[in-house]
This record gives sequence, structure tokens and C-alpha cells, in this order.
Amino acid sequence: MKILVIGGGGREHAIAWRLALEPGVEVWASPGNPGTARVATCLAPPSSGVDGYLQVAASVQPDLTVVGPEAPLVAGLADALQSKGFRVLGPTRKAAQLEASKIFAKQVMVEAAIPTAAYRVTQNLDQAMQCLREFSYPLVLKADGLAAGKGVVIAHDQPEAQSALRTLHSTLGPRIVIEEFLHGEEASFIVLSDGKQVIPLEASQDHKAIRDNDEGPNTGGMGAYCDGRILTPVQTAAVMDRVVRPAIDYMSANGAPFTGFLYAGLMMTPQGPKVLEFNVRLGDPETQSLLHRIQGGFSNALYAAASRELAGVELDWKTDPSVCVVMASAGYPEQPRIGDPISGVDEAETSGAVVFQAGTRVGPAGLETAGGRVLGVTASGGDLRQAIDNAYRGVASIHFDGMQFRKDIGRKGLKRW
Ligand code: AMP
Ligand code: GLY
Repeated sequence: MKILVIGGGGREHAIAWRLALEPGVEVWASPGNPGTARVATCLAPPSSGVDGYLQVAASVQPDLTVVGPEAPLVAGLADALQSKGFRVLGPTRKAAQLEASKIFAKQVMVEAAIPTAAYRVTQNLDQAMQCLREFSYPLVLKADGLAAGKGVVIAHDQPEAQSALRTLHSTLGPRIVIEEFLHGEEASFIVLSDGKQVIPLEASQDHKAIRDNDEGPNTGGMGAYCDGRILTPVQTAAVMDRVVRPAIDYMSANGAPFTGFLYAGLMMTPQGPKVLEFNVRLGDPETQSLLHRIQGGFSNALYAAASRELAGVELDWKTDPSVCVVMASAGYPEQPRIGDPISGVDEAETSGAVVFQAGTRVGPAGLETAGGRVLGVTASGGDLRQAIDNAYRGVASIHFDGMQFRKDIGRKGLKRW
């Protein structure tokens, strides 16, 4: 089976890596990256946007196309591929509104009775400033559209909220959601859906802040871990009953069945799970830790979901916990520096870790940094402590000037259990 993976980040390297381990699967990637090129044939799209990827699909003729990132989905890539007769895993443009518009997502949650933070939608700056009075602090401000992780601000007092509103308004547009701050433990819960049936993946936990102890500005994600204890069976059942089933059923009943990976960013509150956000694709770096634990059935499940035949399909999981430590470039998240030579990737892999590549490129002297999040060093272990040690042993082999990584990925789990 020929599978084409769209995207060029760490998540897509992990998808291509897992698929390439499965018998009978030939993996192509577009655009891919130097890491993906180790496990797949990479093709740069001849032009940007949906058309470029359509041309890639036309030349590869894949049996299945898996779309990794949200931007091409929101731009309608799944619809375009389907209309040309290709089998594709990823939601239509209409279903991708669950991520593309925080306001749309909130409306779905209200209409489907999915628990979420209390909120108000504001259409302009004046209205937003007035609305602040209705909330206590801290409160959360969210720009409506896609913002690559930069659209959410937690404000601790009124001056901070006012200043953040002005910035969000001028950089990301007038429509802003103001919402209640929720307390609890966060979890990422991702399911694979064919539009009606779902297979839940294991829960995982992201680390969004740049520095240890969740300090500093938020990033796309500085690391993740996956451990069967993140949610109890009772919590998992609550998430499936109150969040996942209502969302999938609502989208299907409203003419936008959701095919692909639906990601619920959850706050586990004393009142039960509440949704912080929906994403319409696998999380990054959650995927790196999740896919490290899958030991079979991945390509079959993706193909079945894209064929609307997910009933009875299962994924084969290892019980070992896994950890992904992101190594980011100097200046990330504000102004990532690029062009720093990277050494030690092979040594890290010899030590037992898998090094997923994200912001990398091949320069005159070899591998170098080419973006904010550079590598995702991923390992598993007999227990969470061993998984952490194994991942950090890999990290210790790697060097590039200005590298930043957190030293506490997965530690929350050690404290909890
Ligand atoms: P989002 O992109 O909506 O998931 O928000 C990014 C991060 O902001 C989340 O991972 C949470 O850490 C935090 N966050 C978002 N909404 C809330 C909320 N209502 N209460 C507390 N924290 C939140
Ligand atoms: N790790 C969070 C995300 O992928 O949005």
C-alpha cells in the first residue's frame, strides 16, 4: 500500500516513521524534512497551497493520503483530493472549522451539550473591553482564527487583559472569545474517526510553556508524554460519553461528518472533563510520544477510517510509557534563529531514542536548524521514570548552539503517581 503523508514537521515524521515500520507499506511525504527522508520518499510540492499537493498526489497515485497539519485541511485539501477520486484521511474544510474558528467550536459545544468553560463572544474591541467586567481573574482571551499557538492569552488582572486584547485585536482580528479560567490537570485526548465510529488513542500530556515548571510564554509544545495512567478508565469513559460521542454525532447530524483525528484539549476539573479546544489533527508533540507506543495496526486503521469502515478495527499498543522532549532553537518562541549546525542525532538513536525532526534542513556542513522546534527526542521505558531517563539520554548526545529544552518533561506524572 502506497501512503502519502502531507506535512513537514515532527508529527509528520512520526506518522511516516510508524507507517514505514508496517509490512507492505511504501511511504511518501510532501514536503517532508531530512528526518522524514530517512523513512519515506519526499517530494516538494511544485506550488504552494492545495494545488501543489494535488499535483503531488497526481504523480504519486497513493492508495491513501494522510494530511498532518491543520492549515491544508482548513484550506480544503481533503475536499479537493476526494473530488479527484483519492482516498484521504482528514476532515473536510467544513468539519475543520472545529479548529479554524474558536467561535464555531464553542457553538458546537453549546448545541451538543459538551462541557466547556463559560464564555462570551465579542465582535470588536469596545465590546471586548466592556465584557471583561463580567469575568473574574485570571481570565482567558482567545482570538477566533488559526494562530499557530499564539492566539490564547491568560490575563491575571485588568491592565494585562486590556493590553492583551489590544494586541490580539491588532494582530489576529476583531473576533475574540473571553472565557472563564479553568483549574485542573490538562490532558490531550485524540480519537480516530471515520465520521461515525471512533477508536480512542491513549491520553497524553503536552507541556506548552517554554521553561520548566510551566514558566514563560506558551509554545507549540516543548514535550509530551504518554502513560496509561493519565486518565482513569472512569475518566476515559466520561470523555468518550460527554465529549467525543456528542461531537462526532453532532458533526454527522449537521452535514459535516468528521473523518480523521479529532483532538480534544481537556481540563480535568472536579466537575469532570471540560474542553479547552478542539483540533482537527494529531497533536504535535503528542503524536511523537503516542506513535512510539503503537506496535501495529496503524496503517490498517488509517485506511479503514478513510474508507468509512472503522467498525471492529483495533490498534495494538505497548504498555510502556513514552516521552518526547522537544529541542528548540535559540530565540524560540519569539524569534527562532536558524542555521545552527546540529550534531549527535545518530548517537542519540544508537542510545535507544528515536529522534523525530521538525525544523531541520541539510546545509553545506550537514544537518542544521531551520525552525523553532527542531527535534523531538522520543523514547519509552518499563516505567515512566525509565522512559524519561531514556529520552534525556538521547537529548544529552545532541548539540546545537542556543538549543533550548525543558528538563522536566513527564515529571508531573512522577509526582502524581
Ligand atoms: P488552547 O489553544 O485553547 O488549547 O489554549 C492553549 C493553552 O491555554 C491550553 O493548553 C491551556 O493551558 C490554556 N487554556 C486555554 N483555555 C483555558 C481555560 N479556559 N482555562 C485555563 N487554561 C486555559
Ligand atoms: N500540542 C498541541 C497541539 O498540537 O496543538
